[in-house]
Amino acid sequence: MDIENTIRSRKSVRNYESEPIDGDLRKSIEDAISESWSPFGGSISIRLKSFPPKESFKPGTYGVIRGASDFLLMAMAPDDTASAITAGFRMEQVVLQATRLGLGTCWIAGTFKESDFGKGEDWPDGQELKIISPVGIPKMAETMVGKLARFLIGSDRRQPFEKMFFENDKSTPISTSNRFAESLAMMRLAPSSTNSQPWRAIAENDGTIHFFSAKKGLIHIIDCGIGLCHFILTEQSLGHDGAFKKLTDPECGPVDGWIYITSYRREIW
Ligand SMILES: Cc1cc2nc3c(=O)[nH]c(=O)nc-3n(C[C@H](O)[C@H](O)[C@H](O)COP(=O)(O)O)c2cc1C
Repeated sequence: MDIENTIRSRKSVRNYESEPIDGDLRKSIEDAISESWSPFGGSISIRLKSFPPKESFKPGTYGVIRGASDFLLMAMAPDDTASAITAGFRMEQVVLQATRLGLGTCWIAGTFKESDFGKGEDWPDGQELKIISPVGIPKMAETMVGKLARFLIGSDRRQPFEKMFFENDKSTPISTSNRFAESLAMMRLAPSSTNSQPWRAIAENDGTIHFFSAKKGLIHIIDCGIGLCHFILTEQSLGHDGAFKKLTDPECGPVDGWIYITSYRREIW
């Protein structure tokens, strides 16, 4: 499955078959973890942990996740922006690989018992467990709790493209013929905490694009890392070998209420 179809077919799954993932599927997820990369630095770890169905212990998700036996655990250096961008950027690569394999996932930052999932795990460099995601075979139908979560969070609603992405300044909506339109369209489909969709961008005429978060807080920096992952994987699939760079003084200047994350060019910086 190509990247755009993978991104379009991913959605959070909260109800799973109890069948554990093993053999080639498991190896493919483990490979995706070890091959995941980030240009943003920081300190994070991703692990795949099993809670075999025949053992009676079930880690707590406050009833949000049903049936899953395997979980991705992501630990990161607390209160560190670089780690938060990398956390989103790398973990989403694993999520997309799971999607390609036909497996379900659901990023979880709030509704899990840290003591259940983190038991026996020793994290390097003072990292702390911040995110988990079930990974497994989706059940055909969502549970009532899963349906209610989607409804309450408004998971199926995405903000309009032209209210998120701009040209030259914050008041000119980006044209759908802009060179970055396709990659931004894929950024817009990323998962985000409480579906907050904080990704914002301003494209300059010189081919540079600046990325921002419209919301404050580390969780939204993780969201931005996820969106940037969708953006760069789409760029790469279109044959562009560009790079991110955090500028000290982006040409568009600071934007009221937005937090500057990074910039990107297809040409050499
Ligand atoms: C960083 C992050 C944290 C999340 N935390 C939770 C959570 O604690 N509980 C939950 O049910 N969903 C959680 N989600 C899933 C979002 O609600 C979901 O991605 C969003 O509603 C969009 O729906 P979709 O993933 O199906 O496109 C989280 C997503 C992200 C990216």
